[in-house]
Amino acid sequence: MDAETFLLCLSEGLEPWEAVAARARLSVDRARLFARALGEAGYPVLLEESGVGLAPDSLAPQHVLPRLKGRFGRPYRYLGTVTSTQDVLRAWHEAPEGALVVAEHQTRGRGRLGRPWLSSPGNLCFSLLLRRPQPPLLPLRVGVALAQAAGFGLLKWPNDLLSPDGRKLGGILIECEGGRTFVGVGVNVVQAPLPTAAALKEFRAVNRVDLLVAFLALLEEWLAQPPSAVLQAWQKWDGTLGREVRVHTPTGVVEGVAEAISQEGALLVRTNAGRKSVRVGEVVLPPPPNVVEAQEGQGQAQGRGASEG
Ligand code: BTN
Repeated sequence: MDAETFLLCLSEGLEPWEAVAARARLSVDRARLFARALGEAGYPVLLEESGVGLAPDSLAPQHVLPRLKGRFGRPYRYLGTVTSTQDVLRAWHEAPEGALVVAEHQTRGRGRLGRPWLSSPGNLCFSLLLRRPQPPLLPLRVGVALAQAAGFGLLKWPNDLLSPDGRKLGGILIECEGGRTFVGVGVNVVQAPLPTAAALKEFRAVNRVDLLVAFLALLEEWLAQPPSAVLQAWQKWDGTLGREVRVHTPTGVVEGVAEAISQEGALLVRTNAGRKSVRVGEVVLPPPPNVVEAQEGQGQAQGRGASEG
């Protein structure tokens, strides 16, 4: 047995050491060693004199796998501290479509456009592997699945999940290599790591397992839908269209009113110089009138006012 296998013997909340050790067919001393090793590796292990267990709302396989509804989420790799779940998934060469890497903590989480992604304990960070030709509108499909799974928030093009006051609740990073696509999702569930970010918990009770399993099932469904249905669903969660925007693109800043999303997923902006189509970029929305723009965190992926293209 190793520490990761011992993790599978833990339940949520404290249980007496003797009971857990017996289930794992270990001595209590050895069980203590494994529990300590798991804590050091970043897993949310409760370790008391009276007993051992997992912190509530655990993403351990024994709590997630029985609840998966489709094919996504298997095989499931649950980790404590990693650099980035994207890196772990990328290095997992033999992983099949649907493989999932979930981590409690990232030391070098990445956001879109080269920005960092900060995450606090209790938030959700995972990467899903697709091994299929990229369907059209993939970023929008993932955004719709995330908004629907959260059941809350607004989408900022292409797929940032924002609170009604414009703070960032979640983000999506899609990276490709060869025939593999790594769909990375970060959601601020319990803690906003920056003043410009928000946590879902501020608005509603959230359970990470519910959110994760709902997202995986919904994404599987949205990948099978025609582009017209995706665009229609995206507009249901839309927080971008009809608003004044400033879009930082690789070739410069585009300013105007966000008018529509094209069939290819580009943002169409009406500017003084006519309509421009933006395929890649970071949209900056004006803050709602009663929100004071926080200066801290500019340039972080969670920041409302992130400014690099
Ligand atoms: C963004 O909004 O810029 C995208 C943020 C994506 C963050 C997630 S967290 C899980 C996965 N691993 C990473 O390093 N990034 C993505």
